[in-house]
Amino acid sequence: MNTQTTNAINIRYSELAETSCCLSCGGAINHSNATNGEICVDLGSGRGTDVLRLAESVGAQGFVFGVDISDGMLAKAERQAARLGVTNVDFIKSDLETIPLESDTVDLLISNCTINHANDKQTVWNEVFRVLKPGGRFTVSDIFSLQPVPEEYRNDPAAVAECWAGSVTKELYSEQLQKAGFLDVQVLEESEAYPKGAIEVVSWTILGYKPTLDDK
Ligand SMILES: C[S@@+](CC[C@H](N)C(=O)[O-])C[C@H]1O[C@@H](n2cnc3c(N)ncnc32)[C@H](O)[C@@H]1O
Repeated sequence: MNTQTTNAINIRYSELAETSCCLSCGGAINHSNATNGEICVDLGSGRGTDVLRLAESVGAQGFVFGVDISDGMLAKAERQAARLGVTNVDFIKSDLETIPLESDTVDLLISNCTINHANDKQTVWNEVFRVLKPGGRFTVSDIFSLQPVPEEYRNDPAAVAECWAGSVTKELYSEQLQKAGFLDVQVLEESEAYPKGAIEVVSWTILGYKPTLDDK
């Protein structure tokens, strides 16, 4: 990822780590139905709240990885897990474009208001597909833009870090999901359009499955 954008994201979210302001854009975790023994990932795990909720759902036989790039967020999440004595979790510092997990190992991947920040969203979706087991699922809350983001903002690190300038249109988003291999993605929640930064966006929550060999 572009170093300037990574730095802007790290600075912004490290500052926000110690606040309680809401950083979500939908209810991905509420649709995830994690069950005992599952291996889960939260991409852009922030303060670790959703990771800790999933850890309770999957129990001692399961495990949850939180992936985030922000040092402040990772430190906050690790402190929370230690304070609550939760041991079936691990917080990993990584960019979304290179998820440091083996292929075909994850039952459930969630993400909330994070993928829009990624420089190369196609690579992120390819990585989501790679790490999921056949039959594994994702529930993702994110935003899409009503119109293509104007060129002047698209690579502006601060505007990307503010969670809008990295967004893509619904058409491009759907194309990237398909190219990654996710067919029949369901839309679980979709907001009205609302202004964010210099553009208008929509929040949505989507659910998709990695096909099994029987699906082919
Ligand atoms: C809007 S916050 C959402 C945090 C959390 N999912 C929630 O709902 O509260 C976005 C999070 O994604 C992380 N993030 C943004 N871009 C990232 C990237 N390229 N790679 C890894 N993490 C990233 C940020 O550090 C931040 O913690």
